[in-house]
Amino acid sequence: MKQISAIALALLFAFAVSGLAQPQRQMTPEQQAAFQAQQEATRKDHRQMMEQLKITTLRPGANPNDPKAVNAVNYDEAKANPWPKLPDPLVLKNGKKVTSAKVWWNQRRAEIIEDFDREVYGRVPQNVPKVKWEVVSTSNEIKFDVPVIVKQLVGHVDNSAYPEISVDIQLTLTTPANVKGPVPVMLEFGFNFPRPPANAPNANRFPEPTWQKLLFEKGWGFATIVPTSYQPDNGAGLTKGIIGLVNKGQPRKPDDWGALRAWAWGASRALDYFETDKSVDAKQVGIEGLSRYGKAALVTMAYDQRFAIGFIGSSGEGGAKLHRRTYGELVENLTGSGGYHWMAGNFLKYGGPLTANDLPVDAHEMIALCAPRPTFISYGAAEGQGAEGKWVDQRGSFMAAVAAGPVFRLLGKKDLGTTEFPAVDTALIDGDLAWRQHSGGHTVVPNWPAFLQWASRYIKTTSPSQQTAKAK
Ligand code: GCU
Repeated sequence: MKQISAIALALLFAFAVSGLAQPQRQMTPEQQAAFQAQQEATRKDHRQMMEQLKITTLRPGANPNDPKAVNAVNYDEAKANPWPKLPDPLVLKNGKKVTSAKVWWNQRRAEIIEDFDREVYGRVPQNVPKVKWEVVSTSNEIKFDVPVIVKQLVGHVDNSAYPEISVDIQLTLTTPANVKGPVPVMLEFGFNFPRPPANAPNANRFPEPTWQKLLFEKGWGFATIVPTSYQPDNGAGLTKGIIGLVNKGQPRKPDDWGALRAWAWGASRALDYFETDKSVDAKQVGIEGLSRYGKAALVTMAYDQRFAIGFIGSSGEGGAKLHRRTYGELVENLTGSGGYHWMAGNFLKYGGPLTANDLPVDAHEMIALCAPRPTFISYGAAEGQGAEGKWVDQRGSFMAAVAAGPVFRLLGKKDLGTTEFPAVDTALIDGDLAWRQHSGGHTVVPNWPAFLQWASRYIKTTSPSQQTAKAK
């Protein structure tokens, strides 16, 4: 029972930031009116994109709530693979096989990126204004018995070309105080949850994140960026935030960037800042996120090769899950008004008249774009309904990771090492591409120890205790 109410709370928060559901009962009349206005503006923007694309109807997404519905979500493995043939990441558009790293880097990678840009996630415009980072405060604190330095930062985006919209990126950087010299940092896309009071029944769902203790003890720093501070998580917000600023408040064109690429853009700007901060080893910065922010973490890692390591949490459809799988959440769920803002406008075409099988690329190629850098695909095993359950299609994401393997191998790296779906809590961490499905629900928390164990092969740290020993 406790578990269920905790999940309900988590969903409420997620929905409150996304506008996906209607938690009206929790809202004041003013909030409710604002929420409805936002939904109406979202539907209007969604319609205008359909008009630009000359689409009149879209197929409905999978319905997770009514097993009798014609569009009821499919959880039958026998019906999950209508299009088993995936685009080959190692065949050029001209039909030639890619047999050398050189051809991958000089030709094939760019072809795949062009397809994802145009059809799936959208293009980052050429003229995105500059970001000026301001350190708002620096404080010495003790977290989990570890002395740390906490920096609050704001990235002010130059809005002189369109002062009606101002954009400020919120970022927090925490580094262990007792480690000399630059430290590696994990950057997380953070849900900006109001933390419940410590005595609230659901408080344990949102503890002061204890994985940070693990990180600090090993000598890592930790940073959180708030994606919704620079790009709202709904369709109405596409004329606001960084996307709206560049478009001067006008709606998107079909190949303009969606929220996932905008969020990833912000992570790249945070990395620009880290390159200027002497406490951070900018060559050893990783990216992590869960669910919609797991999608954003994958996009960040795939596009910005400065990120050294990736921790991709329960990213599902639009993330590591194969679009061509008809299991759990579908392409059609992300072409509807609840999720289309994450994607390029052009992606709508694949919810009608086209299908997932018409996409020139699939999720395995996003994972391939991360190669040869170490990439950890993380999932919470199915333990309930919705995102807590099979909705994210753990197996379809495993299949994508397997299909990304040839690119890792071409670049001299080790893939998952198996094509067999491993049991829950079994870590595949011998390769440069890693996988672990953990028990404990829709979170990344239980996978931090396995991630850090695997990451220690790549990321060099000095723990505060080693530092103290050296000093003696
Ligand atoms: C919904 C949505 C998913 C998304 C998730 C989340 O479940 O269907 O695609 O990942 O919300 O971000 O919480």
